[in-house]
Amino acid sequence: MAYNIVTIAGSLRKDSFSLKIANALAKLAPGSLELEVVTPAGISFFNQDLEGAPPADWLAFREKLQKSNGVLFVTPEYNRSIPGVLKNAIDVASRPYGKSSFLGKPVGIISNSPGLLGGVSAAKHLQNILPGISGPVLQQPEIYLSGVGDAFDADGNLTKDSLKTVLQQFIDAFAAHVAKHQG
Ligand code: FNR
Repeated sequence: MAYNIVTIAGSLRKDSFSLKIANALAKLAPGSLELEVVTPAGISFFNQDLEGAPPADWLAFREKLQKSNGVLFVTPEYNRSIPGVLKNAIDVASRPYGKSSFLGKPVGIISNSPGLLGGVSAAKHLQNILPGISGPVLQQPEIYLSGVGDAFDADGNLTKDSLKTVLQQFIDAFAAHVAKHQG
């Protein structure tokens, strides 16, 4: 049976490049992985006052992560960091204290931008956030995707061959990372 990978596209935008990249990865993934693409839509604001009786959407998101075999982040960059909605989702999943839903899960990070720098600052911020609350983060290949604005056709299909090659290399390496770090 394939490993279930919760793939979090960190944008709420309908035509999000991050979402399109996540969907492209789901098609490129080897048979050992099944990517379940989600976004932070519907995850209510974290509020420590609610921790005693958490909202149903927090519980559902945490359960999805707990049942998974790994987590893949596809993040845009907002003002040299990750979008607030993605940080909120991570905060929700990180609690209760010491019981993060990411614990033990092998993780992959992909940043992207239509600009030249590929969202590298967002990826670096994610690398700072995760170590205390997740399992091992894939270190190589590093992947910061620049120029994603012309990589898709009108139906959202990935058409840029250079990007496809890089994504294939990444998802193959991530599959090995996931297999290595199960249970
Ligand atoms: C951006 N964008 C952006 N891009 C970048 O490369 N570095 C940055 O720091 C920022 N900052 C930023 C802040 C805010 C508030 C917005 C709305 C946008 C541009 C961003 O990369 C672009 O809008 C992407 O299309 C967003 O990702 P999705 O929604 O396509 O996945």
